[in-house]
Amino acid sequence: MELQKNFFFVFLFISLTYSTSVVDFCVADLKLPSGPAGYPCRNPADLTVDDFTFSGLATPGNGSNIFKLGISEAFDVTFPAVNGLGISVLRADLGVGGVVPLHSHRVTELIYMVEGSMITGFINTDNKPYFKTLNKGDIMIIPQGSYHFSVNNGTTPAVATATFNSANPGIHIATLSIAANNLPTDLIQKITLLDTNQIHELKKIFGGTN
Ligand SMILES: *[C@@H]1O[C@H](CO)[C@@H](O)[C@H](O)[C@H]1NC(C)=O
Ligand SMILES: *[C@@H]1O[C@H](CO)[C@@H](O)[C@H](O)[C@H]1NC(C)=O
Repeated sequence: MELQKNFFFVFLFISLTYSTSVVDFCVADLKLPSGPAGYPCRNPADLTVDDFTFSGLATPGNGSNIFKLGISEAFDVTFPAVNGLGISVLRADLGVGGVVPLHSHRVTELIYMVEGSMITGFINTDNKPYFKTLNKGDIMIIPQGSYHFSVNNGTTPAVATATFNSANPGIHIATLSIAANNLPTDLIQKITLLDTNQIHELKKIFGGTN
């Protein structure tokens, strides 16, 4: 009993020390602009339990694209309850041969392999790659800011979730950064050393101009 009481006070102390928030939650008001701390809060008096649940991950995202990748997101913009709480999650569906292209986020990611398998890896600032095949039930940490990727090299579709310590982790895809905008081809050639024809090919696929 004494021990339990001590644990309780240690827990209380830690909670008080590390929680700086003055509200329990802040369901996003998407009609107002977001800032560095997220969206302003909706009036708690107007909220119901349905504002804290979301069924959008029950169905795969649209995987009819060059990567055979479908993404369903529960970020602040689709699931306003995560606003201000430093958490969000997505569901990724990779067809056979599907790819999550090289990308990074502002924050750390925790991958959980739900079905099938995928080769997943990250590359840190020393350029050292860490990759392996994740199988059903495996989890993997992708440290904040690192480039990472997945490839479904198996014979069945793969399903995984990715949880982030941000309500909006941002998704910064390397190929799209150079080929889905109007950055001039001669500049891209200089800053990447890619072949000009290759850059034109990528721009054709991702809608880039110039
Ligand atoms: C899936 O995406 C493709 C390519 O953008 C589009 O043509 C198709 O209509 C989308 N399907 C659904 C069900 O939204
Ligand atoms: C992908 O699968 C093939 C066939 O099973 C295998 O030979 C190859 O080594 C795999 N690639 C990687 C990177 O694991």
